[in-house]
Amino acid sequence: QSTTEVNLAAIEPGQAIKASFRKQPLFVRNLTPKEIAEADAVPVSSLRDPQTLEQRTAEGHKNWLITLGVCTHLGCVPLGAGEGENRGPFGGYFCPCHGSAYDTAGRIRQGPAPTNLEVPKYNFTSDTVVVVG
Ligand code: FES
Repeated sequence: QSTTEVNLAAIEPGQAIKASFRKQPLFVRNLTPKEIAEADAVPVSSLRDPQTLEQRTAEGHKNWLITLGVCTHLGCVPLGAGEGENRGPFGGYFCPCHGSAYDTAGRIRQGPAPTNLEVPKYNFTSDTVVVVG
């Protein structure tokens, strides 16, 4: 299985980029303190797919949200990892196909998708380089 190396140095807080991992879109996002606080403020028990932001990020790198860019409903690519794109009512990502809205932890909050955006396995090899896969 192939891995993907992503250089994080140029990704500003609040910015998300779309990369590619095993032929699927990969979203890499540098969360702002406000976005982290928003994710942490949600009662986990209220979630369809209950997970904390800590569980979805690497220890010591809580600002880096790394997920597949594949809606867990029927596989469209959600919006929000490009300039000026609609991030939806929960500020994370928004799938235009049938209206699934994800929050700043990539968790499903509204719409038909059954589960959160998938977090692939990855490792930080430095503070600015992550190897996915
Ligand atoms: Fe995303 Fe249906 S594929 S909401």
